[in-house]
Amino acid sequence: MGKRSLAAIAATLMTAAALAGCAGDDGGDAGGGSGKLVLGFSQVGAESGWRTANTKSIQDSAAASGVDLKFVDAQGKQENQIKAIRSFITQRVDVIAFSPVVESGWDTVLKEAKDADIPVILTDRAIDSPDTSLYKTFIGSDFVLEGKKAGEWLVKEYEGKNDPVNIVELQGTPGAAPANDRKTGFADVIKADPKFKVIASQTGQFTRTDGKQVMETFLKAHPDIDVLYAHNDDMGLGAIEAIEAAGKKPGTDIKIITVDAVKDGMTALAAGKINYIVECSPLLGPQLMDLAKKVNNGEQVEQRVLTEETTFTPEQAKQVLPERKY
Ligand code: AHR
Repeated sequence: MGKRSLAAIAATLMTAAALAGCAGDDGGDAGGGSGKLVLGFSQVGAESGWRTANTKSIQDSAAASGVDLKFVDAQGKQENQIKAIRSFITQRVDVIAFSPVVESGWDTVLKEAKDADIPVILTDRAIDSPDTSLYKTFIGSDFVLEGKKAGEWLVKEYEGKNDPVNIVELQGTPGAAPANDRKTGFADVIKADPKFKVIASQTGQFTRTDGKQVMETFLKAHPDIDVLYAHNDDMGLGAIEAIEAAGKKPGTDIKIITVDAVKDGMTALAAGKINYIVECSPLLGPQLMDLAKKVNNGEQVEQRVLTEETTFTPEQAKQVLPERKY
């Protein structure tokens, strides 16, 4: 037998031995026998203030509740999340949680997790698979409701006025649940009154930089913008820079509605540069740890765990800002 064939057999035997060491170890061995629950978490990235606060909440809560967290940042790429989930399966973590970059394309990898008997928790964002057996629970906000709240504020703000209201929209990452749903919820509410016209709608990728750039192009193409609806604070904050650079007053010349309510957004709201913020809470860590422990113990959990949220006017922002944690 040649050297290559011997080497190939040795490699196969080593892989088989490694797999055998993992297989059949129902308690999972990713924690190196520490006895701690091992949670593999794949995060979207670090695109916004919201995401930074969400990551901190998850990391702090894991440390506080004795969970061994294997945290992987996907840098906004679905393929990185799929790789991370496969690596969690190979490591035989106890539970996998992730915040899906986009809604579609998860069935294959989640079936692999299911076949490996590793429970999955969707965190923050949903997937569009009809097969709900692929995950144990989904914890996060109702993004459609957030969009509706934004639309309802606008309808009230322009009550009794008949002139057309020209709206520009900065959408989140294409294909992401919060981008799809916030758009839908907002459109559902404003469609009742034809004076509301969305004259431009484009992605700003949930980032400040893109929000600024896209707003610059909106301002050049449309001198008559009345309202900006941004799917998150960061894009709204970038847009404020573009509006000021164009010699206009954000919050007055152009009314601004955003979603999230992170500290920078709330500061701009308190200063009158944003008019209304719909809250989306990033503080999912404590509930996530609790759910991970329950699913690991085989306890029944709700299929959908909703986050409690509110809305803020400039006056309310001034009141809560000193205590705002993120
Ligand atoms: O999925 C939540 C959204 O993702 C936040 O609203 C946005 O800021 C973030 O990037």
